[in-house]
Amino acid sequence: MMNTYSRFPVTFTRGQGSWLWDSQGQPYLDCVAGIAVCSLGHSNPVLQRALSEQLGRLQHVSNLYFNPEQAELATWITANSAMDAVFFCNSGAEANEAAIKLARKYGRCKRGIEQAQIITARASFHGRTMASLSATGQPKYHQGFTPLVSGFTYVDYNHLPALEQCIDQLEAHGPAVAAVLLEPLQGEGGVRPGVASFFAALRQLCDQRDILLILDEVQVGMGRTGRLWGYQHLGIEPDAMTMAKGLGGGFPMGALAVKRHCDVFQPGDHASTFGGNPMACRAALTVAAELQRLDLLTHVQERGDQLRRGLELLVGQFPQFCAAVRGWGLIQGLVLKEGGVSSLQVVQACLRQRLLVVPAGAQVVRFVPPLTIGEEEINTALMGLGTALNGLAMEGSHQ
Ligand SMILES: Cc1ncc(COP(=O)(O)O)c(C=O)c1O
Repeated sequence: MMNTYSRFPVTFTRGQGSWLWDSQGQPYLDCVAGIAVCSLGHSNPVLQRALSEQLGRLQHVSNLYFNPEQAELATWITANSAMDAVFFCNSGAEANEAAIKLARKYGRCKRGIEQAQIITARASFHGRTMASLSATGQPKYHQGFTPLVSGFTYVDYNHLPALEQCIDQLEAHGPAVAAVLLEPLQGEGGVRPGVASFFAALRQLCDQRDILLILDEVQVGMGRTGRLWGYQHLGIEPDAMTMAKGLGGGFPMGALAVKRHCDVFQPGDHASTFGGNPMACRAALTVAAELQRLDLLTHVQERGDQLRRGLELLVGQFPQFCAAVRGWGLIQGLVLKEGGVSSLQVVQACLRQRLLVVPAGAQVVRFVPPLTIGEEEINTALMGLGTALNGLAMEGSHQ
């Protein structure tokens, strides 16, 4: 394997619900869920059954032909969002690539823009392919990979004057900005929720100028926040949105969904061999059905409140390390104080307690457990984190 990951020293061989077992048979409570992916938990029996049935019926046919699973999933996504049409792919980066191409084509067709600009946010994360990497407003990910794809400008997240100024500058000599691409809540960049008043003003601005507002729902979409889509926390509707991660519940799956007015792709404009493969669509349809059958959005709100309250108590108990808690539903970030311990140190200390959590930048510890996590399991996670923080406090006092 190429050396692209600094992995934690553990090998997982089995999973069940919110738990993983390592090669020594030791159980770990999983508050990472494959980084906000395994929404129904591990080895979910309903997903297992649906996927084995699908495998026995039809696995892959290519987008040269129709398959019923795609139609059913596109119908579900459009019926349960503000979107009207869907393009299927396999990952978040690939969904964002599609969105970037769509924005460029929209700008050209609708506003005559030859060299389209797309505005994204500092501290954003949109993926590792060249265009999604260029859209990502974090220089640390760009290092060593220039030249980037041109046409991206970064502004501060949730900062209206900066965004207005940026559009004015870019459009000083005529139409230039095809789209603004933002996460409803910045996940990897530090679990930073969008502010509704900012997004309302941005929506107006985009409408006035005929600029597309595209939301990257890859990490927060499909129920993670206690609403089906992140934009529902912000009181606006995007023109287009991307999704992946939790969509397939662990099966690789991504999609770009658009409103009718920006459905500008024509046959031949974009494609993906595996995109919307019957297995991936069946996985997403099963996640969708389980969200409804188990009333998981209510469950996520309740467990999210419980997790947040517990984390806030720990902020009070460990003021030397912890500054705040932020997030929506079951994506919560424990914000650490500068100059104390790093998120990596906390994640490593949690691993010693057999609790899996993941950094979101250097100062935030991210909790993104399966959406099915139970009340007792949240308590166990909070106890594990408390023990880990206590251990770090003891180490500090001995130095
Ligand atoms: C908001 C957001 N967009 C895009 C991506 C990239 O998704 P993928 O790793 O599936 O390409 C991620 C992954 O963390 C993400 O959090």
